[in-house]
Amino acid sequence: MSIVENKIINLPEHVAVIMDGNGRWAKLQNKERFFGHQHGAESARVISETASKLGIKYLTLYAFSKENWNRPKDEVFGLMNLLIQGVNDNLDTINKLNIKLTTIGDYENLPENVRDAVDKSVKSTKNNSGLNLIIALNYGSRWEMINAVKNIALDVKNNKIKVEDIEDELFANYLLTKDIPDPDLLIRTSGEFRISNFLLWQLSYSELYFTSCYWPEFREEQFMAALLDYSNRERRFGKTSKQLKN
Ligand code: FPP
Repeated sequence: MSIVENKIINLPEHVAVIMDGNGRWAKLQNKERFFGHQHGAESARVISETASKLGIKYLTLYAFSKENWNRPKDEVFGLMNLLIQGVNDNLDTINKLNIKLTTIGDYENLPENVRDAVDKSVKSTKNNSGLNLIIALNYGSRWEMINAVKNIALDVKNNKIKVEDIEDELFANYLLTKDIPDPDLLIRTSGEFRISNFLLWQLSYSELYFTSCYWPEFREEQFMAALLDYSNRERRFGKTSKQLKN
């Protein structure tokens, strides 16, 4: 529980965000798409800082999907540089706020300069005990699940596990998120109602929050609105409302 804007709310333990609408926001200002990504990076910084100050334990930001490689080369290059700049420029603040930075995704296939910058931040923040900031980088949920299936099959073949052992918990342990609780709240900005290959397994029981606000304009006030909305939801996990009240 935390007090936000004088209202007591249930804070989600884990918030996941699909940061969408940078390009459309830039177009509205008659600017290049990169201008939108720059402002989007600032929103990512603000939301991370706010989450940390509120005491949220996990924040996962979908920064670059496996499908994003299909964008024009210069946009991909701009996004990679923004990421490098984002982690480098904010490293001191991240440490001051006691934030621990990690990533999920196909890390090996990221450019070396991105891995170098991220490695440095991950190493430098590994003992921090505040917000776990997880950047989904070169991430795709189907790719993640297929890898899990391959590794399960190998472990069955090598007699490490039996077919009968395969159930929810075991499967979840083969995912990149094995040490992370499932998101309580998923936020998607920009008025799109899609999951876009993000955490498909992990979002099974998450509350979904969609807003028309473009990501570069999603700042503290909009985040609070999402958290307040979440705090009024009843999470039933398949049970009835009555069962929960008893
Ligand atoms: C979606 O907007 C945004 C992205 C694909 C990239 C998100 C990246 C950032 C906000 C910058 C870097 C982040 C960090 C964590 C430092 P879009 O381009 O799909 O917008 P559109 O749908 O309006 O075209």
